[in-house]
Amino acid sequence: MTKITCVVDNNAAEKTGLQHEHGLSFWIETEDGKIIFDTGQTSAVFARNLGLLNLKIQDATALALSHAHYDHTGGLEVALTQNEHLKIYAHSDLFQPRYSFREGEYRSIGIAITEEELSSRAELHLSDAPQEILPNLWTTGEIFPRPEAEGRSAHHFIRVDGKWQPDPYRDDLSLVLQTSVGLVVICGCCHAGLLNTLLYVQQHFSGPIISILGGTHLRSAREAALKHVAKTLETRYPDAELYLNHCTGKESHAFLANRFGERVKAFPAGAMLEI
Ligand SMILES: [Fe+2]
Ligand SMILES: [Fe+2]
Repeated sequence: MTKITCVVDNNAAEKTGLQHEHGLSFWIETEDGKIIFDTGQTSAVFARNLGLLNLKIQDATALALSHAHYDHTGGLEVALTQNEHLKIYAHSDLFQPRYSFREGEYRSIGIAITEEELSSRAELHLSDAPQEILPNLWTTGEIFPRPEAEGRSAHHFIRVDGKWQPDPYRDDLSLVLQTSVGLVVICGCCHAGLLNTLLYVQQHFSGPIISILGGTHLRSAREAALKHVAKTLETRYPDAELYLNHCTGKESHAFLANRFGERVKAFPAGAMLEI
């Protein structure tokens, strides 16, 4: 049995006392161990929610980061402080400085810790190839190719040779859990694009995709794009249940729920899925 609990999300389940913030974190427990996927935006909310859920950072053997953005890496400090034996899994481009350009100003939105400091405090596993964190629990590595739409934000940039360029989101990865009944795909922000991520998973792992969780970055998707996503989900991934949160967006969630009914569920902080 595997249990996936949402620790931090833009929304929190009612009557739980859990806080919400723009960010994401999951706690994943398999028969072989416990790991954390992303840390939300702030150490305060991340630590408080873990406490309310009776989950202990010291019990986790590993922490995987979906990508560098502050809303996924902001609680890293408390994780490193409370657990000095964490193995950290992420893409090799994690430490590329990343910026948001708004109102004429570039603001840093990447990971707040340097590679030197992080590698002095944890066992760092950076790779653009898939990495096995626990038996049957993998990072996807870099999502490539990307024939479908990516989950882009027009104001995200990196700096290359002194010039501003759109962030290619090379660091964006998801997790794949292999179960006896099929594959569970756990997304962070899905900047690589939901359909690109699913296609990549289909090509690199065997079995049907039975569940998709997390942020799908559909919040700014137009209706034509959503219709294409829905049609593709219907034809290529007919077994998949969707547990959506974070950057999926209210309207896109409602569109998919309207189309697929019970197959689409919200997954706020405090929600739990057993497989
Ligand atoms: Fe992001
Ligand atoms: Fe995000």
